[in-house]
Amino acid sequence: MLQLIYVSTARSGEVIDLDDILARSRRNNRRDGITGLLHAKGRRFLQALEGDAGKVEAAYARIAKDPRHFALVVLSRRTVETREFGDWAMAADDGSGAVVAQVAKLVEGAAPSVRGTFEGFAGLRAA
Ligand SMILES: Cc1cc2nc3c(=O)[nH]c(=O)nc-3n(C[C@H](O)[C@H](O)[C@H](O)COP(=O)(O)O)c2cc1C
Repeated sequence: MLQLIYVSTARSGEVIDLDDILARSRRNNRRDGITGLLHAKGRRFLQALEGDAGKVEAAYARIAKDPRHFALVVLSRRTVETREFGDWAMAADDGSGAVVAQVAKLVEGAAPSVRGTFEGFAGLRAA
């Protein structure tokens, strides 16, 4: 199974309808057996996608072409035995802390540079 994690930036001037993105994502991801999370903070997105490698790469190629965001940077692309972000078709950050907890768990095993980006992004580090 492939796990792909990237960050991106919302295009300025674009009003991002996160509910619309999530509704479409969940429908497509359910169809494709993809799970993961989407964390939005300010104008930045962090997303993790997990599933069959071909399906994940196809979804990422589609997402990368989406004009609502740009400057996508893949932070990590690796094979995993089990899903590390749970079974959500696409979890969203709802303020409950569940997503941050998942991210914290993931970064334990990540390379230091990836970990730094994550921790800063998800606000895991004390200010
Ligand atoms: C930040 C961001 C995250 C997205 N995540 C997903 C996703 O996980 N799955 C997905 O199918 N589409 C995702 N999309 C939407 C895709 O870019 C694209 O609009 C959609 O897959 C097209 O599907 P549709 O033809 O069913 O509308 C995302 C878009 C953005 C801007």
